Amino acid sequence: MSVVLEFDNLHYTFPGSDTPALCGASLRIEGGRRIALLGRNGAGKSTLFLHGNGILRPVAGQVRLNGMPLEYTRRGLLRVRRQVGLVFQNPDDQLFSASVLQDISFGPLNLGLSHDEVRRRVAEAADLCGVSDLLDRPTHALSGGQKTRVALAGVLAMEPDILLVDEATSGLDPWMRQQVFSIFDRLVERGATVALATHDLDAAQHWADTVVIMSEGRVIIAAPSAQIFGDPELRALAGPVGGR
Ligand SMILES: Nc1ncnc2c1ncn2[C@@H]1O[C@H](COP(=O)(O)OP(=O)(O)OP(=O)(O)O)[C@@H](O)[C@H]1O
Ligand SMILES: [Mg+2]
Repeated sequence: MSVVLEFDNLHYTFPGSDTPALCGASLRIEGGRRIALLGRNGAGKSTLFLHGNGILRPVAGQVRLNGMPLEYTRRGLLRVRRQVGLVFQNPDDQLFSASVLQDISFGPLNLGLSHDEVRRRVAEAADLCGVSDLLDRPTHALSGGQKTRVALAGVLAMEPDILLVDEATSGLDPWMRQQVFSIFDRLVERGATVALATHDLDAAQHWADTVVIMSEGRVIIAAPSAQIFGDPELRALAGPVGGR
């Protein structure tokens, strides 16, 4: 499979911070992959994802989409966001419209699609994420898991080729979690790539085909999941064995 999204030696420090969040992070993401991005709190997973659709711009290094450097112009960013969807770690950072319907419609409307096409996409995404009965609700009056599902629906309605999901599966009930993983699988079957930043080693071992581990602002390894979990030394980088 060809490389679709490439992070090349990224450096980034948040304004006002004196420690870099990324210091030489590199990763090549191929099409059709199921990726688990692991790493301890503060390793740089969220920061890397925020570079993936141009929300953050690296101080040094380059992000490339289908071989082309990201352009941080209005048009360039719209093009990126059509292809790269990001579900934020905290849904409150993602949801800003008054109602669920408005929130899920926002992205597709911004793409300039016809109203019929927007309606079709919103209905499909809402159905997949189990939020069809919440469309009239104000977004602030939802539970945490419901907010996550609405945020995911809004991203799915963009029909991205690359879906970056930051943690979002951890607050879901077991039924919804299973449903969300089956949504991911369906996207991958269609040729999309799903990358999940997670502390869920079970998902990394059994769902992902590729495991990426970050530490202190760098990617320290990216390898087939079977290789990481089959080698005690690499396995130890993923987290404590037998941890609760
Ligand atoms: N808004 C911010 N302002 C300043 N520093 C930040 C901000 N967000 C993150 N950082 C810092 O950047 C570094 C990387 O953080 P990041 O959120 O990318 O880690 P993470 O791997 O996603 O961690 P977690 O598993 O806790 O979600 C950390 O040192 C963190 O303190
Ligand atoms: Mg994070």
